[in-house]
Amino acid sequence: MDKLTIRDIALKDKRVFMRVDFNVPLKDGEVDDDTRIRSALPTIRHAVERGARLILASHLGRPKGEHRPEMSLQPVARHLQQLLGQPVAFAQDCVGGEVAQAVERLVASNVLLLENLRFHKAETKNDPDFARQLAQLADVYINDAFGTAHRAHASTEGITHYLSVRAAGLLMEKELQYLGRALENPDRPFVAVLGGAKVSDKIEVIANLLGKVNTLLIGGGMAYTFFRARGLSTGDSLVEEDKVELARQLLQEADRQSVQFLLPVDHIIADRLAADAQVRTLEEGDAIPPGWMGLDIGPKTIRRYTACLKDARTIVWNGPMGVFEMEAFAAGTMAVAHAAAAADAVSIVGGGDSVSAVQKAGVADDISHISTGGGASLEFLAGKELPGVAALSPRR
Ligand code: 3PG
Repeated sequence: MDKLTIRDIALKDKRVFMRVDFNVPLKDGEVDDDTRIRSALPTIRHAVERGARLILASHLGRPKGEHRPEMSLQPVARHLQQLLGQPVAFAQDCVGGEVAQAVERLVASNVLLLENLRFHKAETKNDPDFARQLAQLADVYINDAFGTAHRAHASTEGITHYLSVRAAGLLMEKELQYLGRALENPDRPFVAVLGGAKVSDKIEVIANLLGKVNTLLIGGGMAYTFFRARGLSTGDSLVEEDKVELARQLLQEADRQSVQFLLPVDHIIADRLAADAQVRTLEEGDAIPPGWMGLDIGPKTIRRYTACLKDARTIVWNGPMGVFEMEAFAAGTMAVAHAAAAADAVSIVGGGDSVSAVQKAGVADDISHISTGGGASLEFLAGKELPGVAALSPRR
């Protein structure tokens, strides 16, 4: 880790602006899943215990510059207060005179959560004036919002031009260490499992991983674009026609790099995407008939994929193997979740669907690292520099 971290800096009595990712689902005005809030607790506690005057800032949803009460962070302030066991003050805005006064009232170890940054268009536009106003609230900048680090917004990038001390929080550090190690220095065999509906979301990730993994296991709807590229039948399965050529190039590249690139050999197919659809298991070698679509990997593919995972020493998984929200098409994804958890490997799971799958399978505690970043982890795995990380001070 070549960036300054919160452990490296003095916090006592400092006004600390901490960007967190509290973009959490709300239901009936309460937090419905607090994973992201809990993940930021070690950094928050670190700052509180060291006497920081802590200012927390986040976005929630995509309000596009409008004040949308249903996207207020107020319920998050209440929830955080319970988790922390100490008062969390809430500011009705994130910039302006009242916010500045609320910050001035903070004494050592007090916590203030600002209102949703994206109630201002200037946040996503990375407006320099807005970024400066945010910076004026603080002496020190901490970014613990790995999930938003792929966005060059005012609170993740712009603000860093106005504060000289810019450090990673503990969650950010942990995310970068796990993902960074997998890409740079993985224990081998290194197996990546990629799934999900669309290959277009994962092309850059596949291209980057081809130079790093030993084995790539492909599942989910995206497998069928590769099927088309290989000239295999796809029936009515999801195929991104405009990505077939790219898929062909990726297959060639995998061959060139001697990467084991595995596609499903058998399938669970259905006559439509519905819980009460007609469902069949299609044996290896059988063509997917017209009017039918592949919605999960079949039992033979499960055995093959789980055997690869059993031998792996590093596993990265992003994207489900089928439409696992429906019982009939959940077996492949559940099997991958169990195999990743059982493996004697460093296992890293990212992306909302795969994270819910490991939770649904009840194996979350056996995964080495569950990333809080969906888009951010994909960009990282694609080998891109994340603007929110690039902007942090180097460790000297
Ligand atoms: C996420 O949920 O992936 C992050 O909070 C980023 O949100 P965004 O995609 O709306 O920028």
